[in-house]
Amino acid sequence: MAKKIGILTGGGDAPGLNAVIRGIVINGIRLGYEIHGFIDGWAGVLNSNIKPLTLADVEDIHREGGTIIGTSRTPIFPKKEGQKDRSAEAVASLKKLGLYALIAIGGEDTLGEANRLYNDGKGEFPNIVGVPKTIDNDLNGTDYTFGFNTSVNIAMEALDRLHTTTKSHHRVMIVEIMGRNAGWITLEAGMAGGAHIILIPEVKFNFDDICKIVKERYESGKSYTIIAVAEGCKEVDATKPSETDPFGHEKLGGVGASIEKRLEKWLTENMKKPYPEFKFEARSMALGHLQRGGAPTAYDRILGARLGLNAIKLVHEGKFGHMVSLRGTDIVAVTLQEAVGTLKTVPTERYEEALVFLGLK
Ligand code: F6P
Repeated sequence: MAKKIGILTGGGDAPGLNAVIRGIVINGIRLGYEIHGFIDGWAGVLNSNIKPLTLADVEDIHREGGTIIGTSRTPIFPKKEGQKDRSAEAVASLKKLGLYALIAIGGEDTLGEANRLYNDGKGEFPNIVGVPKTIDNDLNGTDYTFGFNTSVNIAMEALDRLHTTTKSHHRVMIVEIMGRNAGWITLEAGMAGGAHIILIPEVKFNFDDICKIVKERYESGKSYTIIAVAEGCKEVDATKPSETDPFGHEKLGGVGASIEKRLEKWLTENMKKPYPEFKFEARSMALGHLQRGGAPTAYDRILGARLGLNAIKLVHEGKFGHMVSLRGTDIVAVTLQEAVGTLKTVPTERYEEALVFLGLK
């Protein structure tokens, strides 16, 4: 009888997830396994909510965004006060379903749960393999995660388009870009899309510095400014976060809007108008989930496909407690432990490269 492998996708969706699923199913069936998809991540495991995946189910899905098996942010180990440890329920479900192995596709949170189940599960369900995923590109143990390239391109195109309208109105446009703890998307999209100021969570920003740069641009005849700001950016003297998600992460959003209001006021009060009717104006917009939606780029389709293909190979070789990872152009195996615990943030040197182009270094 064919061995049953369960797969799950957890956390925020990322373009390329379906390519991974397709890679696992095609190579898994070729190697003689039955592949089953848990619906909505760890929630599917807790509820034994699973469906078989056939070749017909995955036909051509690598071209589509999202995940055909759904996702959720559901922890199995407690992450904040009031949450129960549900890991024993998860193990019981995996056993009841008669699964030989589980492939968890996710970021820091989902793979963190997989790693903990592998290590602390007392050998109850040790056949676990991971696949790294996140548009934020902030996972350790891999050079890139799929989804990132698509998000960068979406944000870059938005910035490209905003140049003409912002310039025509002589405005300041503040574009809030996803990235909770790491500014990878903002940095790369900002550089590629020609933002004039790039703010990332790794470096606290100073509102006065922003005012100074915008003022200098106006005074030197550059009558518009585009600011790319990562949603996780904090000001030097920021106040404490309020709401958190099930994994205990702060709910983000709003940094762009807060800069907009204060900057417009500051410019109006501190800048000389070029003519009486002129108004200094700032506008902000959050790209939000647009950055995760729609078709993956070729890069993410291929990376996802290769990771999927190799994830099932890890299962076949019995390399449990590992995840597939991109090193240079090769797909290799690294321990799940290597991927979780700390995040891969933007190194200072990388940010400084961008500052040189911005004329700020
Ligand atoms: O998955 C990563 C991410 O897109 C972050 O960039 C962002 O902060 C978060 O997810 C948004 O989460 P949600 O989809 O739950 O609003």
